[in-house]
Amino acid sequence: MTDPLWSETELAQALGAPPSAPLSAAVAGVSIDTRTLAPGDLFFAIQGETSDGHDYVARAFAAGASACVVAQTRARELAAHGPVFAVDDTLRAMERLGAAARARTHARIVAVTGSVGKTSAKEMLRVALAKAGPTHASAASYNNHWGVPLTLARMPASSAFGVFEIGMNHAGEITPLVAMVRPHVALVTTIAPVHIEYLGSIEAIAEAKAEIFTGVELGGTIVLNRDAPQFALLERRASLTRKVVSFGADARADGRLLHFEPEGEGAAVRAVLHGREIAFRLGAPGLHMAQNAVGVLLAVEALGADVAQAAAALAEFSAQKGRGARFTLHGPGGAFTLIDESYNANPVSMRAALALLSATNPGAGGRRIAVLGDMLELGAGGAQAHADLAGDLARHNVDLLFCVGPLMRRLFDAAPPAMRGFWAERSADIAPSVFDAARGGDVVMVKGSLGSAMGPVVAALRSHFSLAPAGE
Ligand SMILES: Nc1ncnc2c1ncn2[C@@H]1O[C@H](COP(=O)(O)OP(=O)(O)O)[C@@H](O)[C@H]1O
Ligand SMILES: [Mg+2]
Repeated sequence: MTDPLWSETELAQALGAPPSAPLSAAVAGVSIDTRTLAPGDLFFAIQGETSDGHDYVARAFAAGASACVVAQTRARELAAHGPVFAVDDTLRAMERLGAAARARTHARIVAVTGSVGKTSAKEMLRVALAKAGPTHASAASYNNHWGVPLTLARMPASSAFGVFEIGMNHAGEITPLVAMVRPHVALVTTIAPVHIEYLGSIEAIAEAKAEIFTGVELGGTIVLNRDAPQFALLERRASLTRKVVSFGADARADGRLLHFEPEGEGAAVRAVLHGREIAFRLGAPGLHMAQNAVGVLLAVEALGADVAQAAAALAEFSAQKGRGARFTLHGPGGAFTLIDESYNANPVSMRAALALLSATNPGAGGRRIAVLGDMLELGAGGAQAHADLAGDLARHNVDLLFCVGPLMRRLFDAAPPAMRGFWAERSADIAPSVFDAARGGDVVMVKGSLGSAMGPVVAALRSHFSLAPAGE
């Protein structure tokens, strides 16, 4: 049997309370959601916005939880179901366990933030560092006030590397999270007007991202995107305390992308890192992914891992669900390609996705079709930001445009008449017109903010047209 993630003694110490009874099983993992709880997990009953984890304690034990961490006020009643740790505040207790995980590990730690590209860079770091040693990384986008401590609490003591995604919607959110993670290396993928509604300006966004520098260990390194807006501001803040390295197209960058060429499902990339040229295959398409990859390799280097080995591993990185994953679908008119970019959207990632569509060649008789939903949280400039994409449509050779939502109406109206397919208020009403339009050889790219529900459009297309077997 492998070592338990946490011993009973370690838990009692970190949580500040002994269990009400000996644990029913060794602690193999940590969970805050009974729907994904695995046998042996320690379950933290967290009070969420809509539900209270304390209502799921019985279910957690039924699913095989080794113990539950609950509020003192509920402990007596819930201990009837199994061993519980009674604590003042369950979220604070999970933070304490996270801090204990950080304190006991000898792993080299990297934290990733940025307006877009966090999860992609985090997954690249996972596959790259795994070649050098046991690597623990955040699940999905677990980057907030519960995601970060949960990821820490799940980190095995024997990890050689830890990879953490840190996000924010408001100023002040990154500071406490990075203080828990205490990374040796921090990577800021890029700065863009995302969540500008809450932050007010691009400077304010950069300032909020700069909070990540406060938690970087002494002697650590900060990796910055030299081409991103506000680079100078970030560099000023970062270089006060830590070493800074940069990536981008700028000639002064420590990591420079020299050459990028789409190649099947991925790309052939050449870059130069501190004067050393390196060629590798990246398993996901899109110039923006290659840019992220150069930042990732600088982070790998700063962590002390083998850069050549890491670069070779990036062939195994594949586009994530909703972030450029591709499918071949079969319609009556023949096979066509679906690019799923439905996970989220803002002006920067939208332009990157249009560039991706442009770089994908349709088959014989095929066209480039963009199916776009509203980009949300853009504040007062939101409507204009949509209309401003009109030039990008032409520049990226879009042949046919479908739009969803009141903001995208602005883009639809600004697009050349010949490009206009159909506009719908809600995403549920767009799929049938896309079904009708799709022909053999087409490339269909679907993108929009999460709240615009473009994911269901992808799902509708996939179920309407038979999915080709993997490998095609
Ligand atoms: N460097 C980048 N520039 C522009 N868009 C990007 C970049 N990196 C990723 N994206 C796009 O942004 C969206 C979100 O990517 P993701 O890696 O999930 O970022 P995050 O975790 O920051 O939300 C995806 O559509 C992705 O293709
Ligand atoms: Mg993310």
